[in-house]
Amino acid sequence: MKDTLELIKERKSIRGLFDSKKSMGKEDLHKILEACSWAPTAHNMQNFEIVVVDDKTLLQSIGNIKYTISKTYIKENYPHLSFSEEEFRKRKTGLLSTRFTATPKDDQKEITNDFIGKFLKATDVLLVFLYDPNRRAPASEGDFLGIMSLGCIMENMWLMANSLGIGVQIVSALIGGPVEKEVKRILNIPDHLRIAFSCRLGYPVVGEPKLARVRRDVVDFTHINKY
Ligand SMILES: Cc1cc2nc3c(=O)[nH]c(=O)nc-3n(C[C@H](O)[C@H](O)[C@H](O)COP(=O)(O)O)c2cc1C
Repeated sequence: MKDTLELIKERKSIRGLFDSKKSMGKEDLHKILEACSWAPTAHNMQNFEIVVVDDKTLLQSIGNIKYTISKTYIKENYPHLSFSEEEFRKRKTGLLSTRFTATPKDDQKEITNDFIGKFLKATDVLLVFLYDPNRRAPASEGDFLGIMSLGCIMENMWLMANSLGIGVQIVSALIGGPVEKEVKRILNIPDHLRIAFSCRLGYPVVGEPKLARVRRDVVDFTHINKY
């Protein structure tokens, strides 16, 4: 059995295309969903529903949605980018710039990204996690506790998938605005439910280059007794 810390460190985002010849077995999918069910949620509200999308026509329809990167995203993303691996390792937070072509000057432009289309069409399964605000954690302002609970569900899903050799990429681009509205229409999701997060799952292509991953050191964020 693997050490827990080792399993946690092995979990990672897969940002490349998945192997289109491999598809996930029903048992593995069930294990991933079961792992979600055992996530801790505030007041045990289990405030989520999951839509499993493995129908290629539906995946294609979602992939065809026109998506415009928001100006706020471009502006707020830029300061957190590193422009070399060296800078990334030194900073220990944020993302490498390789995936992003937009610069702050572009915040006045409408940029249409083919990300969703290209990657979703080659995805085995898309999981869409729905947040049910009616299953609110008691007396929690803005349902802060309920929303935090969704992160626990994400992590359980991710650790389980990773331990089965199944790659995961969170796809935040499906949340909010006209894209979320269109996804909800395609998947027949009732109005009162919101998309919390979605992720594409599949088998990573063997031989894809490894992406650098960084974290702050424990001493950088730990405060003993007083901040
Ligand atoms: C709430 C949330 C939203 C995220 N959205 C995206 C996303 O839209 N696209 C993406 O590639 N990764 C997304 N990620 C993954 C993070 O960027 C990633 O976990 C982080 O860069 C650390 O890399 P690692 O997962 O390889 O450890 C998201 C993660 C979280 C927790």
